[in-house]
Amino acid sequence: MAEQRVQRRLASILEDDDMTSDRDMAKGGLTRRALILAVPSLLVPGAALAALAPTPGSSEGPFYPVRMPNDDDADLIRVEGAVREAGGDILRLAGRVLDANARPIAGARIEIWQCDANGVYLHPGDRRRASRDSGFQGFGHAKADAAGHFAFRTIVPVPYPGRTPHIHVKVLSGRRDLLTTQLYRAGHPQNPSDFLFRRLAPDEQRRVSMAIRPRAASPRPAFETEIDLVIGG
Ligand SMILES: [Fe+2]
Repeated sequence: MAEQRVQRRLASILEDDDMTSDRDMAKGGLTRRALILAVPSLLVPGAALAALAPTPGSSEGPFYPVRMPNDDDADLIRVEGAVREAGGDILRLAGRVLDANARPIAGARIEIWQCDANGVYLHPGDRRRASRDSGFQGFGHAKADAAGHFAFRTIVPVPYPGRTPHIHVKVLSGRRDLLTTQLYRAGHPQNPSDFLFRRLAPDEQRRVSMAIRPRAASPRPAFETEIDLVIGG
């Protein structure tokens, strides 16, 4: 009886196209693919749900800070002591850190770094650093809460020479590096020609793409996005 109920439920879910939307993915919902992977375990009493697909890793790139800035909190728009906020469009970047069984990784450290609105990194190796926006923090970190949630206030990433817009992300547990990746703007016209983005399979591209939406009224342009960082293995 229980097995018939599970099979009926699976049949109805597999007919529901909404299950494959990016929004469901961002909320950690079961995608059609994940569900198909899960079928055998759903039919075996007591078996664990099948794994979520991990967030694909990517290179750290050359601009990870050589020295941590004094202000490295989760608000990259305001730098302690700076006279003005960062330029650019504000982005609330929120999400969860989960393991492959959708369990939160509480206490994980999430780091992000990206170029400023002028396309310049907080790094001595960026040759264009003369035009750096001193109001932008460039790097920040947050800690995942008990449910794995984290949030940053940063800017919508912009292109810089040779790259499509992206935000670098690193997830650590203590000193252990769990994930290093890059997040992209979903649908950005430069994505298909980016040398790193185009290496990813289409489903991997979806897992590192931020669907960015405008936020309600704000004194300056503001956007938001949510993304789950799934740590594999
Ligand atoms: Fe970069």
